[in-house]
Amino acid sequence: MLPDYRVRQRDYLLEVMRAISSRLELSEVLKLILQYAVELLQGRAGIVALVEPGDSYQIRATFGVARSLPENLQPMLANAGSVREAASLLERNLVHLVQQAGMGQLEVVWLPLNVGAEVLGNLYILRVRGGEFTSDARMVLQSFANQAAIAVHNAQLYTQLEHEKRRLNQADEMKSTFISAVSHELKTPVAIIKGYAATLNNSAGNWNADTLREGLEIIEDEADRLTELIDNMLDASRAQGGGFKLSPVELDIDELVIKTVRKFQSQTTQHTLIADVRSDMPLVYADEARITQVLNNLISNAIKYSPLGGEIRVHGESTDTEVIITVIDHGPGIQPQDQPHVFERFFRSRNAISSGISGTGLGLYLTKVFVESHKGRIWLESDGKTGTTFGFSLPRA
Ligand SMILES: Nc1ncnc2c1ncn2[C@@H]1O[C@H](COP(=O)(O)OP(=O)(O)O)[C@@H](O)[C@H]1O
Ligand SMILES: [Mg+2]
Repeated sequence: MLPDYRVRQRDYLLEVMRAISSRLELSEVLKLILQYAVELLQGRAGIVALVEPGDSYQIRATFGVARSLPENLQPMLANAGSVREAASLLERNLVHLVQQAGMGQLEVVWLPLNVGAEVLGNLYILRVRGGEFTSDARMVLQSFANQAAIAVHNAQLYTQLEHEKRRLNQADEMKSTFISAVSHELKTPVAIIKGYAATLNNSAGNWNADTLREGLEIIEDEADRLTELIDNMLDASRAQGGGFKLSPVELDIDELVIKTVRKFQSQTTQHTLIADVRSDMPLVYADEARITQVLNNLISNAIKYSPLGGEIRVHGESTDTEVIITVIDHGPGIQPQDQPHVFERFFRSRNAISSGISGTGLGLYLTKVFVESHKGRIWLESDGKTGTTFGFSLPRA
C-alpha cells in the first residue's frame, strides 16, 4: 500500500497529465506545463525554452516574469554556438536577473524536456531556495518532465501535421486551378489555329492574297501566344524549383521602355500608350530578356484589364540608388481584398474571370520573381475603381 500523501501525489500528477495531454495547441500545452511546474515546485516564475528547427534555442513560454524578458534574452541566445551553450547562458542569466530584480533568495531549477534521446528543450523554474529535493520529490519531478515532454512532442507533431495538411490542400487547389486555367488557355489558340488552317486548306476556297495573308498572320500570332504560354509555364516551374539563370548587362531602361511601348501601341487602337521616360535615365545592371518580360506583363495587363480603352502611361524616374518604373492604367482597378494576392501563382480576380478576360494568373507571379531576382521591389496601388498603378524598382548599375 502506498502511503496517503503518495496516493494524493499520484492522483494529482495524473490529473495534471490528463489536462496537459488533452491539449494539442503547443502554446496552450506549454502554458499549462509551466503553471503546473511552478505549482509543483512552489516556485515564483518559470520559463520554457525549446530547440527549434535549425538548432536555435528559443524562449517559447513564460510565467510570472516580465513580459520583456524573452525579447531581452533572445538575441543573446541566438548568438550562442550551440543549443547546449544557449541553455547554460539562459540559466546563468536567469539567476542574474532574479538577483537584480530583488526577487529575494531565488534559485533556478531546471528540468530537461526529453523524449528518448531527443532533446526538446528545458523548463526553468525560479523558486525560493529550498534546500535539497528528497529522492521522492525528484522522482515526481522527473516523471512530470517526461510526461510534459511527450505532450510537447505531440503538440509539435500536431502543428507540423496541420501545416502539412494546409500545404497539401493548397497544392491540390492550385493544381486544379492550374489545370483549368491552362487547358482553357491552350485550347483557345489551338482551336483558332486549327480553324484557320482548315479553312485555308479547304480546296473549294479560292482565296485571294489578302484573305490568305490575314489567315496566316492569325495562325502565326496564335502560335506565338502558345509559345509564350508554354514559356511562362516553364519559367514558373523553374522559379519554383529555385533557379533560372540571369545574364545581366548594363541596360538602358529608357530605350527598353520606349521599344516595348511602341510594340504594344501597334497592337491596340483603343488605348493611348505613353512612354514617359527621360533619355538620361541611369543604367541598370539587368537581364534584358527578363526585364522585357516584366514590362510586357505589366503593359499587357494594363491593356487587357482596361477593356474600355484609355491612356496607359509608363513612367520612369530615378533616385540615388534605384530606377523606378510605373505602369499606370485607368481600368477598373483591383479590389482591396484581391491586392495582397495578385502576385501569387495562378491567382486571378473574380472580376477578371467573370468578365471573361482570359489568363492563367502566372504573369504577375513571374514578374515579381524576375524583379526580386534583380534585388528590386514590386508593388501596386489601386483604389479599386479608377485604375491601377504597378511599380517596380531596379538597383542602378
Ligand atoms: N492592370 C490591371 N488592372 C486590373 N486587374 C489586374 C491588372 N493586372 C493584373 N490584374 C489582376 O491580377 C490578376 C493576375 O494577373 P496576372 O498574373 O498577369 O494573370 P493573368 O493576366 O493571366 O490573369 C489578373 O487575373 C487580374 O485579376
Ligand atoms: Mg497577365
